[in-house]
Amino acid sequence: MSKMIVANWKMNMTSAQANEFFDEYAKHIKKTKNKVVICAPFTTMPTVFKRRRLGFKLGAQNVHPAENGTHTGEISAKMLVDAKVTSVIIGHSERRAQFGECNSFINAKIKAAVAAGLQVIFCIGETADEREMGKTFEVLKKQFIEGMADIGAEAKKNIVIAYEPVWAISGGDPNKPSPTPKSAEIAEVHAFIRKLGKKQLKSSRIPILYGGSANDKNFKEIFVIENVDGALVGGASLVPSKFAAMCNFNK
Ligand code: 13P
Repeated sequence: MSKMIVANWKMNMTSAQANEFFDEYAKHIKKTKNKVVICAPFTTMPTVFKRRRLGFKLGAQNVHPAENGTHTGEISAKMLVDAKVTSVIIGHSERRAQFGECNSFINAKIKAAVAAGLQVIFCIGETADEREMGKTFEVLKKQFIEGMADIGAEAKKNIVIAYEPVWAISGGDPNKPSPTPKSAEIAEVHAFIRKLGKKQLKSSRIPILYGGSANDKNFKEIFVIENVDGALVGGASLVPSKFAAMCNFNK
């Protein structure tokens, strides 16, 4: 089964750094059936797009729900399409925590993105406290249902879910790694999301990615877990050899 591997570069990579990344990535990447998406910062997008022959699609990390107007510093779905973007990450825990994005705002973003024909990578995930309090499934269900509210049947085909336990996302310091969930924990949550997808979206095969300290060391173990259709990768996606190793997955 082919996988979907999405790089979330977050607030990293100038154009010069991206070019250096691709020069090195080209040495490692093989022809693959996997779908690769690189979600770049807005300013780096033209450079990333130019290197697309390396076999990936251009993604974005944010979008505003409005079509245009008085939203200083924001980018609309139409602008993303104009920049040749085909996928966009929505609902990331960093945007929820650092920019106060709530489920209804996320829902509005999803509607705007799918209306513009973009594929949405919709992130959900519980914090460490929520997990400790036994609220994981409750939190995920609420994020899922509220984020997906009133999304039309056609639009649902263009949605990918990313399960990102907030406690597993690396803080960017390689000396302080975050814990990764056990395979059984990932399997349990992905099965739960699969069920939610069937019930809420009437979709039997909505892709479900795993995200949170996924890297070149653990991806083989993660990719064989049932209901894991790929990965959303932060830190390891900044290292060409590591990201290429993940993209080269073949099983
Ligand atoms: P890390 O892979 O660095 O833990 O980041 C995960 C993430 O937030 C991807 O969106």
